[in-house]
Amino acid sequence: MLNSLYRLARPALFMLAPEDAHETTIKALEAGVYVGDTTPADSCLAVSFGGLTVPNPVGIAAGFDKDARVPDACLGLGCGFAEIGTVTPLAQPGNAPPRVFRLVNDHGMINRLGFNNGGHGAALTRLRARKPSGIVGVNIGANKDTVDRAADYVLGLQTFYDIASYFTVNISSPNTPGLRDLQAPAALDELLVRVMAARVTLMATGKPRIPIVVKISPDIAEADLAPIVARLEHHQVDAIAVSNTTLSRARLSPSRDMNESGGLSGRPLFHRSTVTLARVHQLTGGRIPLIGIGGIDSVDTALAKIEAGASLLQLYTGMIYQGPGLIGNIKRHLITAVRRADVTHISKLTGNKAAEWAAKPLES
Ligand code: FNR
Repeated sequence: MLNSLYRLARPALFMLAPEDAHETTIKALEAGVYVGDTTPADSCLAVSFGGLTVPNPVGIAAGFDKDARVPDACLGLGCGFAEIGTVTPLAQPGNAPPRVFRLVNDHGMINRLGFNNGGHGAALTRLRARKPSGIVGVNIGANKDTVDRAADYVLGLQTFYDIASYFTVNISSPNTPGLRDLQAPAALDELLVRVMAARVTLMATGKPRIPIVVKISPDIAEADLAPIVARLEHHQVDAIAVSNTTLSRARLSPSRDMNESGGLSGRPLFHRSTVTLARVHQLTGGRIPLIGIGGIDSVDTALAKIEAGASLLQLYTGMIYQGPGLIGNIKRHLITAVRRADVTHISKLTGNKAAEWAAKPLES
């Protein structure tokens, strides 16, 4: 049903510029113009991380709902959790358009939006106005012109602490100059010391412990991955999200926009992000839940992410090409995969093929 509806809608959406198509989609979701997913909940898909339990492991990745306009619609489409943002303390326009490009032949996208968002205040007002239900995470970042980047993340944590189900510390967008430098071990230490200390201070006032996820890039040099993951483990992050978009242009067929600057997402990102995910799984020995992101656009790619080491999944670009019915399809297929493997729970499939994936070259 959903898939056939989207088959009708997609040509019209693809006639629009990507950002206009996105705004049209968000407006439709705001107006309630969508068909909710009716896949029955199945306890074999319920996954816990950081003390939270999500009813199923499929979520929509950050960037889809930057300003918290449609978290309930994302949940209504069947997601087990939604993530809003990236939000920065102050509203900012992002880079000059055009800044989003479809690579239709490759089912990919390039974006250099640059954290365009309405700022903390606007997102907070929207989140406060909704009836609390479901798991809604807040992805936090830093303003482009900020001097003390870590302070922006701390402010994000403090501002949304009473309303976020979890936080994602986004240090991996390629579109804010210097942001990825926060992944360097010394900078990461300083950032996480301050963010974790802010949480301890809030908890000392009687507030609950809200999980903190860190989202990393798929472009971390191979030698740097182990020290970065060691820092994340040292600071006891609740999950690691792997990954954001890539600057690599491997695996692209020739097209007009393939060399536009920005982060590449979708099908061409699948291999690189899945190899990185598997390597993080090997490095952490499965001790930290991983959110697998990048190029999930089918039931097979979703299952492959889990087998490479993901406990949870997020997708964005795949939904643009396949439509929101993808979410229900993945859930139903994962239930079947659990039964077929004769196990009781999806977690039993996590990491089963991590060694195989981790050994693959990043750029093959
Ligand atoms: C993104 N992504 C992203 N990530 C993030 O942490 N904060 C953000 O604001 C955004 N913004 C954004 C905008 C657009 C247009 C795209 C396509 C992507 C990255 C996104 O969350 C995800 O990590 C990647 O897109 C890889 O997943 P998919 O798209 O291949 O499923």
